[in-house]
Amino acid sequence: MTQTLEIKPAVRARGLSVMPGDKSISHRALIFASLTNGTCRIENLATGDDIRSTIRVLRALGVSITLAPDGESAIVEGRDGQFEKPSDPLDCGNSGTTMRLMAGILAPQKFESILTGDESLRSRPAYRIASVLRDMGADISTQSGGRPPIKIKGTQLRGISVKAETASAQLKSAVILAGLFARGDTVYHEPLQTRDHTERLLHTLVPNDLITIDRIEKTITVYGERLPLPPHDIVVPGDASSAAYPLVLATMLPESTCTLPFVGMNAGRIAFYRHVQAMGGTIVMTREDIHAGQATGGEPVGEIAVMSAKLKNVPVDPERIPALIDELPLLAVIACLSDRPWEITGAARLREKETDRISATASMLRNLGADVNEHRDGLSGQGGQVFKGGTIDTKGDHRIAMSAAVAGWLSSEPVKIINSDCVRISFPDFFEKMADLVEYH
Ligand code: S3P
Repeated sequence: MTQTLEIKPAVRARGLSVMPGDKSISHRALIFASLTNGTCRIENLATGDDIRSTIRVLRALGVSITLAPDGESAIVEGRDGQFEKPSDPLDCGNSGTTMRLMAGILAPQKFESILTGDESLRSRPAYRIASVLRDMGADISTQSGGRPPIKIKGTQLRGISVKAETASAQLKSAVILAGLFARGDTVYHEPLQTRDHTERLLHTLVPNDLITIDRIEKTITVYGERLPLPPHDIVVPGDASSAAYPLVLATMLPESTCTLPFVGMNAGRIAFYRHVQAMGGTIVMTREDIHAGQATGGEPVGEIAVMSAKLKNVPVDPERIPALIDELPLLAVIACLSDRPWEITGAARLREKETDRISATASMLRNLGADVNEHRDGLSGQGGQVFKGGTIDTKGDHRIAMSAAVAGWLSSEPVKIINSDCVRISFPDFFEKMADLVEYH
């Protein structure tokens, strides 16, 4: 049964809110722990459905994961990267990160496996990952149109040099993971800088011996046959993408202020905050450098303080699109309400997310009475628009649900959100946390 929720217009947003653990880093923390030869403890683990999918898949491969009752910490017994043959297809649920990262570590195993997922995941492309892993020697096949399920017959991989045409952290991470098992070195060049959680974690675990990172050339070298990884403990920083929702609300509503402690400040994740600052937003980020090292897997962490501000649209740099890819539906929401016309380009990959997010964002905004144009690789529209309330069907896309809720709080009339419970995929207590901040007439 899907849930329908009504969001009423808000007048202010005030308070302090602690964000859930970062989803991208939580996937990696679990997967990397399974590649160690000991016991790893993960704190502040994300609890959403996507993380449950990674846990389910790792358990099906024989990894022992003990979760605390609140799901926010886990003890993982590493298996040196040698897994058990699963008895059934591995169900990645709605999680693209689970599917792609796991493909990288299943390709070099000694058994056959199948990666599948829900209807949304099965409609998303898997041909890029299949093609690059095949170049490394993998025996891997997809269904028609290069879609999942992905069938993998494990085999010895070889290191290769990859010049990726698509900027994707999931693709990059899968190749890096496969490279750890491969014979010889793997060199991966990405066209634009994407989030680098995988590289940071590896580099923190074994400095200079597993991986070298050339940020100027956007090239990563992974040294082969260096497993197992050393056991380690990690505290996952708060999710920078989840923090974008309260940040926008406190910016857009008058007389508002909000503090978000312990949020991840990876440069590959905070381009949205930088863009809002460029639009005139008052966002103060204070780095807590004490966390920038080993404890958080090499991730910078800090506190964000936000105050109301009047925003003006400024050009969105297409080079920075990968660093704000998950925030683009929310960016379109604030762009409609801010001064001056706006345009987002270079975001064609948004059509390959949990839904076709270009068209889902356009229809969300139109249902609220906004005038927007949909393009092959982005969206555009006028500024200074007003949301008049309406009904939005999220079609199960968590980022559309949360962006629609924010639009609802910023609307002149209530907004009904159909299938609002899909927020559980990345931010299970999104509505409760936001209710603590939002004030009504
Ligand atoms: C992710 C990378 C991004 C992002 C996704 C999570 C990751 O996808 O959209 O939500 O954890 O690596 P792509 O790298 O495929 O663009």
